[in-house]
Amino acid sequence: MKKIILAYSGGLDTSCAIKWLQGRGYEVIAFVADVGQGEDFGLIKKRARRTGASKVHVVNLKQEFVRDYVLPALRAGAVYENKYYLATALSRPLIARHQVAIAHQEKATVLAHGCTGKGNDQVRFEVTARLLDPRLEIIAPVRLWEFKTREEEIEYAQRHRIPIDVTKKSPYSVDINLYGRSIECGVLEDPWVEPPEEIYKLTLSPRKAPHVAVYVELDFQQGVPVAINGRALKSIDLIGQLNVLGGQNGIGRVDMVENRLVGIKSREIYENPAATILHAARHELECLVLDRETLHYKEMLSEKYAELVYYGLWETPLKKQLDAYFNKIAERVSGTVRFKLYKGNCTVVGRKSPNSRYKEELATYGKKDVFDQKLAEGFIKLWGLPF
Ligand code: ARG
Repeated sequence: MKKIILAYSGGLDTSCAIKWLQGRGYEVIAFVADVGQGEDFGLIKKRARRTGASKVHVVNLKQEFVRDYVLPALRAGAVYENKYYLATALSRPLIARHQVAIAHQEKATVLAHGCTGKGNDQVRFEVTARLLDPRLEIIAPVRLWEFKTREEEIEYAQRHRIPIDVTKKSPYSVDINLYGRSIECGVLEDPWVEPPEEIYKLTLSPRKAPHVAVYVELDFQQGVPVAINGRALKSIDLIGQLNVLGGQNGIGRVDMVENRLVGIKSREIYENPAATILHAARHELECLVLDRETLHYKEMLSEKYAELVYYGLWETPLKKQLDAYFNKIAERVSGTVRFKLYKGNCTVVGRKSPNSRYKEELATYGKKDVFDQKLAEGFIKLWGLPF
């Protein structure tokens, strides 16, 4: 029997995929990536075995996710279409990388995933895997199988005694990891319909958030957030704390219509308190420490970087070159940002840095002023001269 490594989540699609692939003569080895989705992995493991997986690998990828994916994207200022902090998109190339590694370890030649043919994730998984090992074959059961609706799929699961979690029967499709949560489907498919409160799990409604603002200080060292209120934290804990703190104050809800890779527009809701705060703080610090041309030029490339992440092009030359570029810039991005969280808003109220380019004696209209205003006259004449 040919071995196949299935990226397994424990949900309906990947559970049915185990049986479906077995029916086509594969020995299915399940691979479960822990990217901080906070699931019961013991239970997921059991479910995979009971459904017919010959073996289950559960791999803790949280540390690597933060260090090699989340932080570089933060440093790059990567936000897709100005709104999406890319939590789901960033996890895919990491999962694919480990799926390929497990294939090598198990001497398997085929990979499988549970993505549909309409989404971005299929592209991210497959492009990454193919770049890392083009010899591997990839099968996407959901693109191939006969079920037209979710009901048909559930019926298949029941017929094959696949243990599915009926309590999780929700009209929404959700993806979650330590950096954020993505929600789609159900009533959200109508972009005119306001998201019902029930879809949110990480964030309190601003209406229910505390009536007093919470002040927070965040320290950065070379583009990496390292401390909250002066207390040094490991990146993973720092993100966790900002998610809680932000979530309690209703920070980080995003409602958008985005352009998918396959040409479809889709309505997606995101909850990402930590990412919202981190990007706001990073941007503010950059405004203080970077010269004008670097700042403006960088922002164009941030957009490009976000596209590359969204498009599944993580393992490509351009993305790696841009990492080197953003890394160089981040050398200056150290300092502290002070902000307040209040009913859905994260407002920066102060910033300081040993690398600050702000010169009070140039900016001031007070006594300390050293700016020679007479120079402005000649500057303006020459500035307009070409035109
Ligand atoms: N639209 C987002 C992306 O392409 C999230 C995809 C997964 N979302 C979900 N609800 N299952 O990265």
